[in-house]
Amino acid sequence: MATQNDSRIPVAILGATGAVGQRLVSLLEGHPQFVLAEVAASERSAGKTYAEATRWILPGDIPSDARGLVVTAVDVDFASPVLLSGLDAAVADTIEPLQAGRGKLVVSNTKSFRMRPDVPLVIPEVNADHLALLDAQPTRASGGGIVTNPNCSVVGLAMALAPLHRAFGIEAVAVTTLQALSGAGYPGVPSLDSNANVIPFIDGEEEKIEREPKKILGLLENGRVVDADFPISVSVNRVPVRDGHTESVFLKLKTKPSLADVRAALESFTGEPQRLKLPSAPARPIAVRDERDRPQPIRDVEAGAGMTVTVGRLRPDPFYDVRFTLLVHNTVRGAAGAALLNAELLLAQGRLAVRTAAR
Ligand SMILES: NC(=O)c1ccc[n+]([C@@H]2O[C@H](COP(=O)([O-])OP(=O)(O)OC[C@H]3O[C@@H](n4cnc5c(N)ncnc54)[C@H](OP(=O)(O)O)[C@@H]3O)[C@@H](O)[C@H]2O)c1
Repeated sequence: MATQNDSRIPVAILGATGAVGQRLVSLLEGHPQFVLAEVAASERSAGKTYAEATRWILPGDIPSDARGLVVTAVDVDFASPVLLSGLDAAVADTIEPLQAGRGKLVVSNTKSFRMRPDVPLVIPEVNADHLALLDAQPTRASGGGIVTNPNCSVVGLAMALAPLHRAFGIEAVAVTTLQALSGAGYPGVPSLDSNANVIPFIDGEEEKIEREPKKILGLLENGRVVDADFPISVSVNRVPVRDGHTESVFLKLKTKPSLADVRAALESFTGEPQRLKLPSAPARPIAVRDERDRPQPIRDVEAGAGMTVTVGRLRPDPFYDVRFTLLVHNTVRGAAGAALLNAELLLAQGRLAVRTAAR
């Protein structure tokens, strides 16, 4: 909760009662730069306190500063200059532009605007420079705008691809995902479908994984992103895991590096968040493990407080060049932590026009 002498920037969470919203509430507790000031959700929740409205699905209790905040509707005029959005896409379609038009900087987890040419789709370690796309948004004059982070599976994949694309060039990617239940939100997949079962379909997911990494790994040229040019073949599965998406990745590379070179490129990968020492930045964006049976969700999902992508089972491939397995925490690095890191980067780049009156 903000105190009178608090110099932290107030933020509102849209969709604060959902799986991603709850992670945001949790990650904002004790944050050095941002303070949770407002929470918003559907009409079902509006008017209740956050504690009354929320079926808390994270370990421990609801942070005490959030418990008593009264949930508002998502179309109100927020006092906070920054809105972190974990809204369903159907609602985000209209609410995020409405709020950007009112001068709010919306940092969104939703698919709605990720592929719009003037909207940055950013993983701070990979393409921090793409935030410059914001300048072309019509709402920028008032300080408003929309910045997005990728789909949760895409975050892990694009982070592992980035150093390999830079060092060796990528020719083709094939990936099979094993995605956690928390990726479907709350209450998510019915228990009779998810328990002791595998569902080989997630609506719209394969299309996002085939499309989004190419924008993220694309180059910013003359104010627009030229997509990276390689095919990505995807097959997705929902599996009975609580948190953490596992992905089996197969890569054809333009040059033919040794496995040791691939390993070194992955492990030495860092970017703007580490250089700028952003509060949510992990020391190592990618951790490489050599045990033959890692990464595993229950053992590795919390690496780097959920912000490190773990890569293991790195080995040669007889058809592609290399293959490996990666694990990404879908609601932290894949969603809430990704949005918060984007907000920290926006602040570090001087792109948060904060009016003192709003504090
Ligand atoms: N879960 C993940 O791992 C993950 C990862 C990356 C991106 N995402 C994306 O993030 C977004 C949120 O996902 P989630 O998993 O957190 O979903 P969720 O658990 O279903 O939460 C949805 C949130 O949106 C609110 N909401 C629903 N309908 C609304 C309406 N008509 N008006 C205003 N608010 C409404 C809900 O409020 P009530 O509680 O009041 O209904 C809740 O706060 C989605 O776009 C999703 O695709 C999710």
